[in-house]
Amino acid sequence: MMSAPSSTVRREPAARILGTGSYLPDLVRTNAELEKLVDTSDAWIIERTGIRERRIAPPGMVTSDMATEAAKRALEQAELQPTDIDMIVVGTITPDVPMPATAAYVQQKLGAKLCPAFDLSAACAGFVYGLAIADNFIRCGAAKRVLVIGVEMLSRVVNWSDRTTCVIFGDGAGAVVLGAADGAEARGRKRGVLSTKLYTDGGSTGSLVIPGGGTAEPLTPEGLTQARGKIHMKGQDVFKVAVKNLHSSSQAALDDLGMTGADLDWICPHQANLRIVDLAVAKLGLTKDKVLVNIDRVGNTSSASIPILLDEGVRSNRLKPGDNILLCALGAGISWGSAVLTL
Ligand code: UT7
Repeated sequence: MMSAPSSTVRREPAARILGTGSYLPDLVRTNAELEKLVDTSDAWIIERTGIRERRIAPPGMVTSDMATEAAKRALEQAELQPTDIDMIVVGTITPDVPMPATAAYVQQKLGAKLCPAFDLSAACAGFVYGLAIADNFIRCGAAKRVLVIGVEMLSRVVNWSDRTTCVIFGDGAGAVVLGAADGAEARGRKRGVLSTKLYTDGGSTGSLVIPGGGTAEPLTPEGLTQARGKIHMKGQDVFKVAVKNLHSSSQAALDDLGMTGADLDWICPHQANLRIVDLAVAKLGLTKDKVLVNIDRVGNTSSASIPILLDEGVRSNRLKPGDNILLCALGAGISWGSAVLTL
């Protein structure tokens, strides 16, 4: 059964992005290198996904290391100290450990003060979920400045002998500092998060799953050899639902505001597959020149993809204060969501 959207109509922004940051490990793994691991080709991967290379975290690095680096950069851009943060939300399905939360390690590594710090599991939609949660905490006055991080070390949960998944995913982290909108304006537009829409359809949990390692199937030596602790994906099923749902949630977020695609300056979509992005954008009646893309360089980094894109856009001056931006993402759950904000 499909859940109802959890958000409400918003015209007066409560929270805006004060700073963005991202981190990508140095190590590049090209399609040519994957040709040596599995039966695939550079041409197939580029044509079917748009990916040319992805980043891989080195041994010894953990998820919270990448998250902390992205968070430091976001704080620096916002001209804030770690102690200015009063909540940390980390979207990830690749935590340092099953317990405690990766957010707790990030808090400690940053030197942030005592504050709520928790992980949320919405897979590729994790950043949009985190943004909606942070926006609502700020709106109701329970937090003033929130770090929202999307981070994944998917190289550790990918089956490197499964060509249907190992060519897609990559490692990385992105972060934003969200703070009170305080009526800030740019180009005559009020800056901040305008609308968020979140959905989950638990009827499709089997489409994208790590079947082993939880209470349903504790990992055994046999399970390990069968890669039960790794990502299993029905790619075609996810593909179809992604195109459909990214369109519908984005349309709903725009409808909330009485906006259309023509009111958007940029679309910053989850980088799952370039063909999904192209099809979803076309369904919205939008043109490719408004779409930020980095999947060719970083692959599918799940919850990290949108905040990495945002940070790259801000730092390259493509995204400017006052720009209207649509975010949208879908992943395991199936969970998805869209947000419209003015930068
Ligand atoms: O971000 C979270 C959500 N995830 C997604 O949104 C991913 C959604 N799905 C996809 O991106 C695509 O479905 C994939 C990239 C995973 C697969 O692309 P596809 O065009 O849907 O391929 P397919 O599954 O229909 O497979 C077509 C053929 C098959 O061979 P046969 O049965 O026709 O002989 C596959 O075995 O392509 C084969 N194939 C490959 N060939 C070369 C699958 N993976 C590869 C590969 N290299 N890496």
